[in-house]
Amino acid sequence: MCGSSVTPFISFGKQPIANGFLKKEDFGKEYFFEMQVCHCQKCNMVQLAEQPDREQMFNENYAFFSGTSTHMARHFEQFAQTVRTRFLSEAKDPLIIEMGSNDGIMLRNFKGWGYRHVGIEPSANVAKVAQDQGVNTLVRFFDEDTTELLLKQYGQADVFYSANVMCHIPYIGQIFKGISRILKPSGVLAFEDPYLGDVIEKTSYDQVYDEHTFLFSVLSVQYLAGLHGLEIFDVEAQETHGGSMRYYIGHKGQHGITAAVENQVLKEKALGLASLATFEQFRKNCEQSRADLVKLLTDLKRQNKRVVGYAATSKSTTVLNYCGISSDLIEFISDTTPNKQGKFSPGQHIPVLAYENFKKNYPDYALLFGWNHKKEILEKEGDFMARGGKWIVFVPQVGIE
Ligand code: SAM
Ligand code: TMP
Repeated sequence: MCGSSVTPFISFGKQPIANGFLKKEDFGKEYFFEMQVCHCQKCNMVQLAEQPDREQMFNENYAFFSGTSTHMARHFEQFAQTVRTRFLSEAKDPLIIEMGSNDGIMLRNFKGWGYRHVGIEPSANVAKVAQDQGVNTLVRFFDEDTTELLLKQYGQADVFYSANVMCHIPYIGQIFKGISRILKPSGVLAFEDPYLGDVIEKTSYDQVYDEHTFLFSVLSVQYLAGLHGLEIFDVEAQETHGGSMRYYIGHKGQHGITAAVENQVLKEKALGLASLATFEQFRKNCEQSRADLVKLLTDLKRQNKRVVGYAATSKSTTVLNYCGISSDLIEFISDTTPNKQGKFSPGQHIPVLAYENFKKNYPDYALLFGWNHKKEILEKEGDFMARGGKWIVFVPQVGIE
């Protein structure tokens, strides 16, 4: 991001495409890369050393449909309301652009209110779900060419939004440059992504996977914005995805900067997010977590207990491959997404089965890969727990609940 060299502090070993659920006949051609994470002393960015090409991850077979979580649908509806009242109440015929609009979970709100909007979504299968609901969606990556196209066809935007996308894009400088051109002078860039501070505090190392090029902090985003004539004017911590941060950014000097920004910077310094020693400690915590989880699963296996994975999340790919957990420890993974079902988990090749398989024959233990959806999941799994079913968790610590 800033052009200086980075220091690696952990390797999660050979990892496959996190959302690359596959059929048996494709095992032989599966792609792996060395997943190493680095820190930059100059700009404080935490990032992957190497990443697969974007088309390998985002294409017409993309497995992640945002709408599978009703909590997330509510989250985006609330946020759309906030954007509307905070930034659009006085705008004339405003334009909202979303990068990585997926199945339209956010933009459909603006569509419903009759606003001019456009989603940029390269994964054709998820984009189709949005298009079918009338959400205006261009099937392409946001980059320099798309910036030109948007400026020509739509003009400048009042709000440029993205959730869980910015951190996916290695050519982040190009993205920020494009956004700084697309935003009206008073325009607002609002984006949210998993937050480095939460990952460090909770040892939630499963936030590291191929798609997540960066783990942002206010410190690193501040540096990045500054390179493009932009500045953060507000930040808001979010509970989504196990702890995220929302950044509000505008052209320099256009918005009053809230106290939340400086407060968060102070918190980050206190947490050691500018210090390599913090990341060294994080590595040790990850190693401990791995040892604890493997021991727990091995002990349960010895006791002939049935263990099933709950939710074939992208994050679970890191856990399974870093810990070397395969189908001798986990019988199958239950998931509600139709196009993951009947396939196998990336790398470890654990069968992924429809949720009905979990319901009709409860295991003794469910390993909660979807820990970030815990509230939603526990609410609907009262029956499993009433029949003595237990949860295995690994964030912030390995344990049974
Ligand atoms: N915004 C949704 C949400 O928060 O649920 C979807 C997030 S999903 C993890 C990431 C999305 O970003 C995918 O739908 C992917 O196709 C899209 N994406 C990846 N790179 C992109 C790029 N350069 N421009 C636009 N979208 C991109
Ligand atoms: P994510 O953590 O990468 O967002 O993935 C969410 C996955 O979890 C998605 O494949 C659907 C699955 N899921 C379930 O199987 N059951 C559930 O109750 C929830 C909330 C998600």
